[in-house]
Amino acid sequence: MTAERSAPPGRFSGLSIKLIATIIAVILLVEVVVYLPSLATFRANWLDDRLRVGVVAARVLDAVPDVMALPRELTDRLLTSAGANAIVYRRQGQSQLIELASPVRPDVVVTADMRQADLMTLIVGAIDVLFASPDRTLRIVGQGDLDDSLVELLMSERPLRQDMLAYSRQIGIVSLAIAVVTAVALYLLASFLFIYPVRRLTQNMLAFRQAPENASLIITPSARRDEIGIVERELAAMESDLFSMLRQRRHLADLGLAVAKINHDLRNTLTSAQLLSDQVATLDDPKVQRLAPRLVTTLDKAIGFAQSVLDYGRETAAPPVLAPVAMLALVDDAAFEARLVGHPAIGFANAVPESLVLNVDASQLGRVLLNLLKNAREALEAAGTAIASPQVSVTVSEDEETVTLSVSDNGPGLPPRARENLFVAFEGSARAGGTGLGLAIAREITEAHGGKLLLADQPTGTRFDLILPTTLRVDV
Ligand SMILES: Nc1ncnc2c1ncn2[C@@H]1O[C@H](COP(=O)(O)OP(=O)(O)O)[C@@H](O)[C@H]1O
Ligand SMILES: [Mg+2]
Repeated sequence: MTAERSAPPGRFSGLSIKLIATIIAVILLVEVVVYLPSLATFRANWLDDRLRVGVVAARVLDAVPDVMALPRELTDRLLTSAGANAIVYRRQGQSQLIELASPVRPDVVVTADMRQADLMTLIVGAIDVLFASPDRTLRIVGQGDLDDSLVELLMSERPLRQDMLAYSRQIGIVSLAIAVVTAVALYLLASFLFIYPVRRLTQNMLAFRQAPENASLIITPSARRDEIGIVERELAAMESDLFSMLRQRRHLADLGLAVAKINHDLRNTLTSAQLLSDQVATLDDPKVQRLAPRLVTTLDKAIGFAQSVLDYGRETAAPPVLAPVAMLALVDDAAFEARLVGHPAIGFANAVPESLVLNVDASQLGRVLLNLLKNAREALEAAGTAIASPQVSVTVSEDEETVTLSVSDNGPGLPPRARENLFVAFEGSARAGGTGLGLAIAREITEAHGGKLLLADQPTGTRFDLILPTTLRVDV
């Protein structure tokens, strides 16, 4: 209940913005993966186009015996149609060259050999063009139209680079458009299916947590049949449970307060009555002498009852404070307090090994043992002479995970009335003057120690098993 309250997510923080961003990122990533091969193919086609013109030009050169004799006007036209500064044609060890009248002398020459163009080389080549300086000279090498002929074109790389940049821009714009349109479409779909219902749930939870006593804040589940629908229905059920539990708890707390007040006054009144009855008991009148002891015990019982109800309100609240405790001594103390040690009729045996030391709250666990031992004594005393040799004993058994202290007696066993509401406060008692608190408190304390308190199933007598986890063991 003390956990910090979370703020409601803003319009675009939270789920929706994450969703949109993720979708766009994923689509762009996919686009990049597709973009690289497509850019490489674009460049390969571009180079092939130039090469084809070069091949046509080379065929002309091949047909002419002396290239130098060709008119300059013709060679220039050939070169410009291929976009090249120079064309070289090699065949059978011979080579022919035409170049522009004022050829540029290149510093950096990069070769694109179209005869061995696998995809990887093409991709690397394409990236290289984009990131290199724009002033390189490009040398395109390719197969001529005859088997052993070779055509080379020399040209500036600038036009290729510009075309590739333009192409990349186009792809970029299209990709971004696709990513945005897809993201928006998916977002709308997800909003309808998922984000709005989840937002409604979160807002409802936040509001309900602020005011769980307000029943109008309980969510109205929609008719959806999917997981969100289940969450809505479960939340509605949880909220209405919580609502009624809180209301019930408030009523109980009010009642408890009233009872505690009445009880307190009652105890004080009874204590005054006890003082009076003590006085009365000293009178000599034989009638008074006969009745007074009964009056005294009745008052004792009533005061005891009032006191234990008051104690119940107080003592079960604190969590146990663990410290190493020798169990043999703890059991002995509890038996003494339960008036079992030195009892005229009932035998008591404490079989707890001396070495057993547990990390427990000594006063709380002592209270558990006291309640169990006192119940045993009361049962044996009530049975009176019906039991031949009344006996109470405490034994210990261990396995890998648990240490069990068993409190057993050879008494009459649990009356059926007690069995039904055993461990339930104010309900479990089956004896006159009982509060039914002893076992309820005992179980609560045991569970706060991570243990269990169980009634053992056996044909005669009664045995309660106080089962504690071995993790509480202290090795000495
Ligand atoms: N060892 C026992 N033998 C027989 N009956 C028992 C034993 N321990 C508990 N009971 C029964 O269980 C009831 C509940 O016990 P407890 O919770 O201690 O409440 P209380 O002692 O105030 O009645 C007792 O009233 C008694 O009838
Ligand atoms: Mg009791």
